[in-house]
Amino acid sequence: MQITIDKSPALEFAADALIVPIFEGVKETRFGAGDLVDSGEVAGKPLELTILHHVNGVAATRVVLAGAGKTEKFTSGDLRKLVAAGVRLLRGKSVKKVAFEPDADHGSPEFISAAVEGAILGNFEPDRLKTLDPKKSLDQFTVVSSADGAAEAAERGRIIAEAQNFTRNMVNEPANLLTPTKMAAMARQMAFESGLECEVLEQSQMQELGMGALLGVSQGSAEPPAFIVIGYRPADSTSKAHLGLIGKGVTFDTGGISIKPSDGMEKMKYDMAGGAAMIGAMRAIAQLKPPIPVTAFVPCVENMPGSKAQRPGDIVTAMSGKTIEVLNTDAEGRLILADALAYARKQGCTHLVDAATLTGAIVVALGHLNVGLFSNNDAMRDRVLQASKSEGERMWPMPLDDDYKEYLKSAFADMGNIGGRWGGAITAAMFLKEFAEDTPWVHLDIAGTAWMDDAKPYISKGPTGLPLRTLVRLAMDWKD
Ligand code: BES
Ligand code: ZN
Ligand code: ZN
Repeated sequence: MQITIDKSPALEFAADALIVPIFEGVKETRFGAGDLVDSGEVAGKPLELTILHHVNGVAATRVVLAGAGKTEKFTSGDLRKLVAAGVRLLRGKSVKKVAFEPDADHGSPEFISAAVEGAILGNFEPDRLKTLDPKKSLDQFTVVSSADGAAEAAERGRIIAEAQNFTRNMVNEPANLLTPTKMAAMARQMAFESGLECEVLEQSQMQELGMGALLGVSQGSAEPPAFIVIGYRPADSTSKAHLGLIGKGVTFDTGGISIKPSDGMEKMKYDMAGGAAMIGAMRAIAQLKPPIPVTAFVPCVENMPGSKAQRPGDIVTAMSGKTIEVLNTDAEGRLILADALAYARKQGCTHLVDAATLTGAIVVALGHLNVGLFSNNDAMRDRVLQASKSEGERMWPMPLDDDYKEYLKSAFADMGNIGGRWGGAITAAMFLKEFAEDTPWVHLDIAGTAWMDDAKPYISKGPTGLPLRTLVRLAMDWKD
């Protein structure tokens, strides 16, 4: 979709549709909306959408009155959703060219970026492999604005949302088409096109590095593992920080020998969503050029049962030297991340963020609305929370007291890979903490938020692309 800025008056802009926000209790008299407001048909409630055709004095064929709620509460996050909902309503109606005019109070660069993001994210549909229904996406989205910095803001929004859709497409790929090898090839291609460094470690290199925890998970699959490393270096950085982004890349999680029930197992293709978010974040970072070096680490494996698969009771030695008793082969994400965290530290990262579809328990705790956030460092936790707030990607801090460590004890190794019945998301995070060691680190459990089970007016069913925007913002706003 092409993104443009236009300075001409909105009423004169020729388009298939013009989206305008309508606030609760604020009477909009243009666009023939006055009577509808008076009668209560248009109340400006959040996400209430009303399409008007051929309005007098408006060059656009349609006007979409987009309910925005209370004006004083309206955030850029609300605008992102509102524009996305408008776009999703229109894309089903053979509309190709859409314009949007922000109201006088919500037209700053931050809002313009959000509007563009909403348009691009709303225009996304996970239909790459549907051959029967013709695609009905929009061709053009124009923000009507003469504000300072509008063009730069639109461009920033475009870069971020296109990266997020890149991630969503990767997450949606089925596991027969997206093997670890293919995921690495896609990452390499992206890095090449973006001018980023990319290295893919293969199995023999992982063996040399002693990544026993990762290799134990991978050994049950005929597909070889791949460990993707993508690096961004700013032209002239004075920062001492080096941000490491670690993402779980399980291209399919059957559970292994501790096999999952077949009901719903098809969803486990999204068990690489954390890794895909990191790869997508690097795509945006390459273009937006934050002030600090950033390296993404994405261990990719397929977790399969079979005659070569790891068994419950197996003991593996992680790269850090710690031994782990694999009490449940379905708790595989933490095993591959253990070696990825150790490797990121070894590569000189001073600050770490990982994202992983790690536990069903985080979905029990927080539902589908908040990412579970765990950290070993208050300052690092606050940085990530701040970034997530700015981006409207909700995250909720979870506890990680040292006392939880005893939940992971093993009779025969340094630790087990599962805790008991309770606090499953916390014990998983506690396990990772052992490998982040003293490096400031945040763990994001995205099992409940990386995938939408049902469509909403502003987003399709399927991959969300979380927490890409938070990670990009974290890098962009970095101050030592
Ligand atoms: N990939 C799953 C977690 C998951 C569950 C993601 C539901 C998305 C939706 C993970 O590898 C897993 O299987 N975790 C187990 C851990 C348990 C064996 C301690 C879980 O959550 O059941
Ligand atoms: Zn699992
Ligand atoms: Zn998993």
